[in-house]
Amino acid sequence: MSNADQIQTEITLKVSLGDRSYPIHIGENLIDRQELYQPYIHGKQVFVITNDVVAPLYLDKVLAALSNYETNAFILADGESHKTIETVNSIYTFLLEQRANRSATLIALGGGVVGDICGFAAASYQRGINFIQIPTTLLAQVDSSVGGKTGVNHKLGKNMIGAFYQPQAVLADTLTLNTLDDRQLSSGLAEIIKYGLIRDKPFAHWLDENISNILKREPIALAEAIKRSCENKAQVVAADELERGQRALLNLGHTFGHAIETALNYGSWLHGEAVAAGTYMAALFSNQLGWISSADLDYLENQLKLAKLPTRPPENISAEQFMQLMAVDKKVIDKKLRLVLLKSIGNAIVSDEFDQEKLIHMLETIERIPTNFAPIN
Ligand code: NAD
Ligand code: GLY
Repeated sequence: MSNADQIQTEITLKVSLGDRSYPIHIGENLIDRQELYQPYIHGKQVFVITNDVVAPLYLDKVLAALSNYETNAFILADGESHKTIETVNSIYTFLLEQRANRSATLIALGGGVVGDICGFAAASYQRGINFIQIPTTLLAQVDSSVGGKTGVNHKLGKNMIGAFYQPQAVLADTLTLNTLDDRQLSSGLAEIIKYGLIRDKPFAHWLDENISNILKREPIALAEAIKRSCENKAQVVAADELERGQRALLNLGHTFGHAIETALNYGSWLHGEAVAAGTYMAALFSNQLGWISSADLDYLENQLKLAKLPTRPPENISAEQFMQLMAVDKKVIDKKLRLVLLKSIGNAIVSDEFDQEKLIHMLETIERIPTNFAPIN
């Protein structure tokens, strides 16, 4: 690799949160570099939390880099359906059996599911111990590992139990993405596309030219997409860590998307797929309210399609079920639903200024696709 390529594919960003600031290292071959962990591990005990898909791929490399510490690993069952309080409890039991103390460090090695679970265990074990994020999916590298949202699902609602708790560092090793399947790569693109739509029109236009390169795993395009996504996320989190205001914009498509994931029992649609359909639904509703042009709606639909993502909800969720599931959304205030809606590409708002009947009409009339829509693999 030339020096120029090296510069473009390895970078460190910062999430600026005063004395809780932390770096996001993005690049190739990071997980085996001891010096990247060392500044963020304050005691002797290090526990890697991972799952049974990621462990055979990357656990040995991570443990080798941590050979100066007392290490052990806890391997979770894979999948969104295991993102539960019971799984967190199994981590507490493991940590207690290991006599983990307050200076212990947890390392989340995996996608967003492992990251969210491990982060919540770190936030709550003995009232909070250090943790490091090693995201190994595109979605986790561009979104979930950054910003400190941790937690688990409840059968009545997605991500309903959790805490804001920032990691000490994020190591996004882009080479880990080589083992990810194409459907998961597309799922990550849903969150990447989100940043362009809500606040970064130049990035949206860059994506027009580069979604196909990302799907081909072209290293420069991947690194640039991760960098620009993390820059956007770091800026929003630094300005509004606890989601009192603008951070809610990062939830474009998520109110509908979370309802889809909950209705489908967490598993048959990937998070990014549900968010993609939800993003189209939010945009369609914005268009029906007269806020976003039909040209912008078509543009956004085309971008999601380029990323090989679904743009319509599944057939078996009624408008009534959507309304019930969305009533527990975390943006609801005084029983009033607030949605992230679009004014134009690059400009989103959070609003409750809409007629509920119009929303129900959109939910009743929007085209549906089969629940088992043809995945791209
Ligand atoms: P995931 O964690 O389930 O990972 C997807 C699949 O890929 C899993 O089967 C996983 O084991 C496997 N995998 C992970 N890394 C791999 C690799 N390098 N090679 C091969 N397989 C690999 O799903 P995800 O899309 O990473 O994350 C989705 C979760 O993230 C959802 O629960 C969502 O709610 C959460 N999320 C959280 C935030 C946040 O701010 N905390 C933001 C967005 C999403
Ligand atoms: N993924 C939404 C957020 O971090 O706020």
